[in-house]
Amino acid sequence: MTGEITKEAVEAVLLRARERSTLLTDCVDDTELIAQHSPLMSPLVWDLAHIGNQEELWLVRDVGGRDPVRSDIDELYDAFKHSRSSRPTLPLLNPAEAREYVRTVRGKVWDVLEASTFGRTELDVDGFAFGMIAQHEQQHAETMLATHQLRSGPTALVATPAPQAARMPELDEVTIAAGPFVMGTDDEPWALDNERTAHQVYLTDFAIDRFPVTNGQFVEFIEDGGYSRPELWSRDGWRHRVDAKLRAPLFWEHDSSGWWHETFGVEAPVPPDKPVVHVSYYEAEAYASWAGKRLPTEVEWEKAARWDSESGRSRRFPWGDVSADENLANLGQRHLGPAGVGSYPAGASAAGVEQLIGDVWEWTSSGFHPYPGFRAFPYREYSEVFFGGDYKVLRGGSFGTDSVACRGTFRNWDHPIRRQIFSGFRCARTISGRP
Ligand SMILES: [Fe+2]
Repeated sequence: MTGEITKEAVEAVLLRARERSTLLTDCVDDTELIAQHSPLMSPLVWDLAHIGNQEELWLVRDVGGRDPVRSDIDELYDAFKHSRSSRPTLPLLNPAEAREYVRTVRGKVWDVLEASTFGRTELDVDGFAFGMIAQHEQQHAETMLATHQLRSGPTALVATPAPQAARMPELDEVTIAAGPFVMGTDDEPWALDNERTAHQVYLTDFAIDRFPVTNGQFVEFIEDGGYSRPELWSRDGWRHRVDAKLRAPLFWEHDSSGWWHETFGVEAPVPPDKPVVHVSYYEAEAYASWAGKRLPTEVEWEKAARWDSESGRSRRFPWGDVSADENLANLGQRHLGPAGVGSYPAGASAAGVEQLIGDVWEWTSSGFHPYPGFRAFPYREYSEVFFGGDYKVLRGGSFGTDSVACRGTFRNWDHPIRRQIFSGFRCARTISGRP
């Protein structure tokens, strides 16, 4: 993207983000907007005004140097000051006020963009702050989509069904040869601080699944007693399995005809060829152990996704350096669910690993830590305060992630018990050398 960032491109990503958050908030009535659909989530109206507040802080006030629009609400919409579960009790802007607020802020942002030189300050180089804010809004759009999945009642969203391959492909592994690999980035203009800096890592041979683990494979694990065999689970994982009474992925139900799941208000049989979604890290870890494998480390995932051994360089995306489109990956809430495995052969990495970007976030076995040379930018609360916590890194984005908020270097993190997110996984295996 270096050198190609134009004001038109910035305008397009900001408009796309707003179109998405408008769709997700206009499709339900005011009562639903202010309701809390799950203690894990904010009311949708909080997300909406928070999106506007972050945009005001960074673009209107910081980059633009303009007067505040509503400095009186900064505290209300500071994600670090109020837990998600406490947000419905706050004196929030009502839906009409929130909509008016985000509109006013956006109007000022167009003036700031017009006046910007994309280089006056570090925040402004290559339109970084605009890119960060577009990513922020799209990240909340994914969170709002997860809220829609948790709400009860008839679906409020429509989408075209996700593609399925004509024939179920072989669910095999790909070998990634030993050698050095460049992880992270120095030159991706809108990469966030935790994706930097580029650094060389040496890995021994390993094998990684060509596709994310499917529902069909996960059903085999369940039917082989996977949820009742403590030896397959880590100590913390088993304790959580028992306490939370886990017996299947979130939103799954079983009856005499088999497994069903509820997706955005619609009940349907679980499709065997699609990646499993809504599993916690602990469930992914237990499945991998049952399969005689393990979860990939974050480094392994990124090497399988980005390393091109022929050219000796790391790509921006598995398929190359061009941005995602509908033939390469299932992103952007185009389809409200993962696609069947084998649906995106054009999106394969140089090594031949498929569906790494889009479909489901993939749990890795790695905790969230800084790369060598890490520098918090533009604020510590984006990444630094989370380093070393009780988190596992997830990679690759989901069907709910927008392409602006996902690339080969992008890192997400969450608690190992979480599964309201669009999380799945694939397995890996050590081939030689030390485990
Ligand atoms: Fe946020």
